[in-house]
Amino acid sequence: MAGNITFTMIKPDAVEANNIGPILAKINQAGFRIVAMKYLKLSKDAAGKFYEVHKERPFYGELVDYMSGGPIVAAILEKDNAVADYRKLIGATDPSKAEEGTIRKLFAKSISANAVHGSDSDENAHIESDFFFSKMERF
Ligand code: RTP
Ligand code: MG
Repeated sequence: MAGNITFTMIKPDAVEANNIGPILAKINQAGFRIVAMKYLKLSKDAAGKFYEVHKERPFYGELVDYMSGGPIVAAILEKDNAVADYRKLIGATDPSKAEEGTIRKLFAKSISANAVHGSDSDENAHIESDFFFSKMERF
């Protein structure tokens, strides 16, 4: 059965462009409930750990530098079929390939500065949520 939580980050480019509010509005309009949320800057070490699955990819160094380069918003979102529905709402990794109306089409600058993160599986949604949030920080 599909799980009901996913994990997201509003990435440094979208924070810098003052798009936290518009992105949260899209998330709420799409029927997601906010379970947990925080505003923080990742250290290089923390960003490296979060993206460890991509360690062997050519863009890993650039990704870690980018994600630790400015503040982000981290959040757990709840909805039926959360992982798949959220990936649909954010659109393709490369914003030039993202569908009209998706968060990345509307707000992303490039494949690296692509506005938001979304978990790619139920298992990773839980791993990523646990990376950022304790039980006391979830409602
Ligand atoms: P995310 O994890 O951030 O939600 O993105 P995604 O699943 O759509 O893409 P993924 O393959 O997991 O890649 C993670 C992030 O790495 C950056 N990336 N850069 N330069 C490149 O070719 C490249 N490819 C990926 C993106 O910021 C992507 O979101
Ligand atoms: Mg991914």
